[in-house]
Amino acid sequence: MKKGGHLKTGLFTLEENPIVEESLLRQLRLQRGGCHLHRFPDGETLIQVAATEGMEEAIVLCSLKRPNEKIVNLILLSETLRDAGIKKIGLVAPYLAYMRQDTSFHQGEGISAKYIATLLSTYFDWLLTVDPHLHRIHALKDVYKIPVRSVSAMPAVVAWIQKHIPAPLLIGPDSESEQWIQKVAEMLAVPYAALKKQRFGDSTVAISVPDLGNFTYQHIVILDDIISSAGTMLALIEKLKPYKKPISCIAVHGIFANAAFERLQQAGVTVITVNTILHPTNQIDISPGIIAELQSWNP
Ligand code: R5P
Repeated sequence: MKKGGHLKTGLFTLEENPIVEESLLRQLRLQRGGCHLHRFPDGETLIQVAATEGMEEAIVLCSLKRPNEKIVNLILLSETLRDAGIKKIGLVAPYLAYMRQDTSFHQGEGISAKYIATLLSTYFDWLLTVDPHLHRIHALKDVYKIPVRSVSAMPAVVAWIQKHIPAPLLIGPDSESEQWIQKVAEMLAVPYAALKKQRFGDSTVAISVPDLGNFTYQHIVILDDIISSAGTMLALIEKLKPYKKPISCIAVHGIFANAAFERLQQAGVTVITVNTILHPTNQIDISPGIIAELQSWNP
């Protein structure tokens, strides 16, 4: 997208995320696209887009929390826009779902990450996301068949920690977290530990915590890419409480399935998230990162 953007590109949204939406509209000089969803009594959806005259391209902004219904709506919106004459449609999905089922863990299991990537690649011309969960799939381009880019929320996380938390000790809950926890700790020049996690079920994990007595710190910061059931955070909080330091849980994507957020509040910790998914814990704005990437990229 050209620096400064242009009004021939429309921005369509399928859910509320006012800060990100307004920032994109304003700073990329996009045209606000109108999109109305009608839900029939039987659960089917009809999408109607407002006039698109003069619009050549479209960006759809939609985070994929509770993804199943959204994916159907994305397909319907993409096809509706193409029928309305839009030639190129990009998807900005600040949270990209289905990335954790990235292999067949048990006999006969499907590899959802691959299938959803194929599906989205059929309906969109390019994809931009934020810190996708990459583990056994090493890069989005390994599964997506369209141009893909990801933005890292870590510079914004670093800036937030620097401003709000003196003398933190950073804790990454599992081996996947090492990729960002090490960089964040280096940027902040603070100590860190990346731990080992074993998952036993959807919300049950075991994490071994080494002796933290050798570190100098005043505040514990657990940094993860996703809080879903909060099983990971809660297991760690349990082990870290004996150190009697304030604990903050920072995540890029706050999914907060079921009562996850309430359980974290009851645990007496502070929870901070990036606004890739709209939630009261959003304190870190990802819009500047998304805008900078879209300005420098010409998908
Ligand atoms: C998993 O590998 C991720 O990095 C997160 O640790 C995980 O998704 C958190 O999930 P939950 O909140 O359900 O423990």
